Formats: sequence, structure tokens, C-alpha cells
Amino acid sequence: MAKELIRLTDCRMAFDNEVVLNNINLYINDKEFLTLLGPSGCGKTTMLRIIGGFLKPVSGDVFFDGVRINDVPPHKRAVNTIFQKYALFTHLNVFDNIAFGLRLQRNNGNKLDKFEIHNRVMEMLEVVSLKGFEKRDVTLLSGGQQQRVAIARALVNKPKVLLLDEPLGALDMRLRKDMQNELKSIQQATGITFIYVTHDQEEALAMSDTVVVMEGGVIQQIGTPEDIYNEPKNAFVADFIGESNIVDGIMHSDGVVEIFGRKFKCLDKGFDPMEPVDVVIRPEDVDIVPPKSGKLKGTVTGITFRGVLYDIIVDFHGFKWLIQTTDLCPVGTKIGIKIDPDGIHIMKKGAFSGMYGDYSSYSAEYDEISDAEHEQDQEDEEENEFVSS
Ligand SMILES: Nc1ncnc2c1ncn2[C@@H]1O[C@H](COP(=O)(O)OP(=O)(O)O)[C@@H](O)[C@H]1O
Ligand SMILES: [Mg+2]
Repeated sequence: MAKELIRLTDCRMAFDNEVVLNNINLYINDKEFLTLLGPSGCGKTTMLRIIGGFLKPVSGDVFFDGVRINDVPPHKRAVNTIFQKYALFTHLNVFDNIAFGLRLQRNNGNKLDKFEIHNRVMEMLEVVSLKGFEKRDVTLLSGGQQQRVAIARALVNKPKVLLLDEPLGALDMRLRKDMQNELKSIQQATGITFIYVTHDQEEALAMSDTVVVMEGGVIQQIGTPEDIYNEPKNAFVADFIGESNIVDGIMHSDGVVEIFGRKFKCLDKGFDPMEPVDVVIRPEDVDIVPPKSGKLKGTVTGITFRGVLYDIIVDFHGFKWLIQTTDLCPVGTKIGIKIDPDGIHIMKKGAFSGMYGDYSSYSAEYDEISDAEHEQDQEDEEENEFVSS
């Protein structure tokens, strides 16, 4: 069973009376890979610094293994940090950079002999795939290799927890992907709890056991990558994680939602009769069919080739959806769409309603075409009102 290691209760942080973290409640399990995910400025680094002991919350408590650690300084916490700028010691070679922390321990009266330091550094070089690099000058290493040295330098101290603040931010895309896989393997091999900060949702989904989505200093949702993607709690999360069409709907009864005047079957339950809701439809969950057999009809106003798929923008009643398809649908094509019940996800209306999920900015130039089509569409619709599948 998972064992809880860190807990934050009702943590609040403010700078100059400006609240940057509000009512943070979170626990982190031993050996977990947990990611704080959110846009720039949402409070991720601040939260990491509170866990590391570099900042004290204005109110609320931090616990480690059940013990309150609000007043414990960083060097007395079983936590190590890799900062965004992981400055290596440029006058030291790879070995000495990694050994640095262990030698400090020795100076503090902790008895680590030369052999033990040597063995532990060599072990870490193996973990980060830098065997044979120990004599190298760190300034002559590539970005990815420097990053590995920074990781080894932090891990050699055998922390219970490693805090990583956007550690791959400076690397190019390809290297970033390699390092994501490698970090995940290192975490699994060492069994160290990782608390990872990123604004990159793909990175968070690929690496984490648990994702904490933040916005405006508030936790919006905590869950596995699958939970967060499939069951977003609000329009912010739905929009931030992957691509989403978010439209207004009315919940008629359990399992039946009205969108643009048509009823669709869905799997969601427990809403009030006729409750207004936000409806999320992922671009990959929309099936394109001939206009006649579609539940809704729209006009393609934009198309982008993405390799395996096309991204098409489709205008329905002036609201633009993003749909992903392997079919070639040139601009101007009239299409029908169908959506399976499990492709529709219902959310309660909330503070973020109406702010996200329309793809209008993708293509403005075809608005005239789609307006003309819209009139025709409305006529068709009157015939088909409330036909459910
Ligand atoms: N030392 C500080 N003094 C004043 N404001 C700060 C300080 N550190 C962070 N902030 C503010 O707190 C908010 C959250 O910052 P931060 O935690 O760094 O966000 P993130 O890491 O998610 O980008 C931002 O508005 C930032 O400007
Ligand atoms: Mg930050």
C-alpha cells in the first residue's frame, strides 16, 4: 500500500499582500512521481520552495512523515532540489561536481571515506549514463550531459525526495523527450519520490503517476494522467490538458444532454433536470459522416496536415470545433458528425465557463461561407429537432 510522505494542509502564500497560493491541500506518497502542472505564474515554483523549506507559508502546515516541518531549514530536510538553472561548478570536473555534496557531509563531521565517496559517485555516473565522463570538464559537455550531472549531483546524497523545477526547459524537443524517459527510469530504479514542476502538459502526462493541475494559486484537479485527460473537472483543466471543444449544454436527464438543440447520449449522471452544463468533446472523439446522417452539420473552414491526422476546423452555428480525422476534408466541405456517448464529457458550470474551448481564432477568413451555410443548416434542423440516436 502507498505510504504518505509529505502533506500540505491549508497552505497559503502571499508576497506583498498578493496571494499566490491559496488553500493548498495535498499529500504526496513515498516513491511517487508527482507533477505540479500549470501555466507560468500559477504558483508551481512557490509550492516547490515551500516543500524544500526555502519559503515559509503565511499560514498552513507542511508535514514530512507525519512530523510538522514548517520550521525545519532546507538542509535538514530529506529533500534535494534541481533548480531551473542547475548551475554546475564550472571549475570542477564531472566527478568533483557530483562528489561535492558528499565531501560537504564529511566536513560536517559525517564520516564518509574516500572509497565510499568514489563508489557512490561511480554508481551515480552509471545511473545517469555518464560512465567514463568523470574527468571531463563540465563546461565542455552538451546541455543534456550537463543536465545528467545535475541529476547525479542531487541523487548522490540519497534524498527521500527530489524536487525538480522545469529541469528540461533549456533542452531542445528531441533531447527533452529522451530525458523524460530517462528521468522516469531513474525515478523507478532509485525509488526516490519525485516532485516535478512543468508547464508542459505532454511532459506531465508522459511522466507522472499523479498530476496536480494548478491555476491562479489554486489546485484545480489532482489525479492520474488518465483521470485528468478523460475526466477534467472544469473548463480550465479541459482546455489546458490536450485539445478540447467546450460547448454549452443542457442536461435533460441522466445520460441525455442537449447541444445546439440536439440531444446526445452520454454517460454522465447526477445533474438537475435541465441544468446548464459545460460539455467537453475531444477532437479525436468526433466521427465524420455524410451531412444527412450527422447529428450536427457543419462546414470545414480550415485544415492542417499533422502527419498521421488532419486537424480540421469546423463551423457549427458560428462556434468552431477542432476535429482530428484521417479523412481529407477540404475547406468548404459540408460534413455531418456523430459522437459516441463515451466521447461526451459533462462538467458543472463554474468560474472558467465560457472562457475556453472555441477554435474561432484558428481561421477567420471563411466566416462568410459558414454564415451562409448556417441559414440553410437552421432550416434542416427544424425538421430534425430532437432526433436522438
Ligand atoms: N519572491 C517573490 N516576490 C514577489 N512575488 C513573487 C515571488 N516569487 C513568486 N512571486 C509571484 O508569485 C506568483 C507565482 O510565481 P511562481 O510560483 O514562480 O509561478 P510558476 O512557477 O508557476 O511560474 C507569480 O505572480 C510571481 O510573480
Ligand atoms: Mg516556476
